[in-house]
Amino acid sequence: MIQKPKGTYDVYGEKGSTILYIENVLRALMDRYNYEYVRTPHFESSELFHRAVGETTDIVTKETYDFLDRGERKMTLRPEGTAGVIRSFIENKMYARDILPVKTWYYGPMYRYERPQAGRFREFYQFGVEVFGSESAMADAEVISIPVHLYKILGLKNVKVKINSLGDTASREKYREALIQHFEPHIGELCGDCKERFKKNPLRILDCKIDHDLEVMKSAPKTIDYLNEESKKHFEEVQKYLKAMNIEYEINPKIVRGLDYYTHTVFEVEAAVEGFGAQNVLCGGGRYNNLVKNIGDKDVAGVGFALGMERLLTALEYEHIAFGSSALDVYVVPFEDTKEEALALVQFLRLNGFKVDTDYMNKNMKANFKQADKMHASFVVLLGSEEVKTGILTVKNNHTKEEYKIEKEELIAFLDEKLVEDCHCEECECDNE
Ligand code: HAM
Repeated sequence: MIQKPKGTYDVYGEKGSTILYIENVLRALMDRYNYEYVRTPHFESSELFHRAVGETTDIVTKETYDFLDRGERKMTLRPEGTAGVIRSFIENKMYARDILPVKTWYYGPMYRYERPQAGRFREFYQFGVEVFGSESAMADAEVISIPVHLYKILGLKNVKVKINSLGDTASREKYREALIQHFEPHIGELCGDCKERFKKNPLRILDCKIDHDLEVMKSAPKTIDYLNEESKKHFEEVQKYLKAMNIEYEINPKIVRGLDYYTHTVFEVEAAVEGFGAQNVLCGGGRYNNLVKNIGDKDVAGVGFALGMERLLTALEYEHIAFGSSALDVYVVPFEDTKEEALALVQFLRLNGFKVDTDYMNKNMKANFKQADKMHASFVVLLGSEEVKTGILTVKNNHTKEEYKIEKEELIAFLDEKLVEDCHCEECECDNE
């Protein structure tokens, strides 16, 4: 049997409904925040990611899916969304718009050739936002508020927002020098990758998954001690705005993020549930004031974040949160000689907005009722030859087992009324408790 590629997964059954539900929530949420949807190609020229994500990041050195296309062009399956959205922002001259900032959101598959494990896939889905053209800390705070809002809507309780600041270019440079001085006497203790990182980008050392328990890592200088006045001010403002929005957070100086492009604010939201596992970062992001210039020579500030759908699903599972039922409004029971009429009735009900199913397996009456139960049908409509002849249908409330004789013309009004009476959900606008 041919199997799916390592690090990928199939979606079906309940997981499919949950994902679709969350995608709808995301769309509605982004509409409320007045963000526009962008979609960029799943592959881009390799150079884009080398320039954007950084030559020394694990993502670029070890994890990209690179290929030569048939025209011998170097291409890469996107490992993240930011670089492509920036390329699109520049290429489509969105920077020249009347209304700034340009606030965008995206959703789709990303590809990283990582060692698969719980919460780490080779093909995974990210939802993300990128905001261009504002240097205000208000934009940073708004971006952080989006995943917090999403988790609240979905009912996740055990999440922790962690923020840090890397400061502007000057602060980052001062910090880099401090790191070099700190690590230089200890190079021998570091792993092979970190020895390389020391030469090219010492900040990356702090992100190492192998060396993170070493004493020299624990005693490393902290970014926030190297912020200049302007960077400090920006970070304080971010916190002021977060407080204004009642968003709880903690400052964690260890957050440097695994990509090279950040300046000023960086943040992550963690699942704080016992036993969640090592991949407990639900989302991450931050400000990148130099990246648009690096990619396309336009001096435009940016800030954004992305979250992984798979880790979100795991977090929901850990907190025992499930969405909606896939209950049917109506199950139509056809008889041997009424199949055409049954299918016509099914179609008629669907066209009128009801969720309806029927029997395609020639089941007997008992098995049909069982099927209706399994599909959690609210009503069962029996369509025998008598019903077809008289136009009076036998309709059963599948919960109370009450039986009604309803004229076909009255069926829609009957179902409209009864389904609302029967509804006990928390989402619709019925007045039922
Ligand atoms: P990232 O931290 O690399 O940031 O990824 C963001 C999120 O994607 C992670 O927090 C995680 O939930 C999910 N994720 C990453 N890799 C995997 C994987 N192999 N399997 C499953 N989930 C994964 C970025 O990608 C930045 N582009 C975020 C950003 C946007 N910064 C500014 N704007």
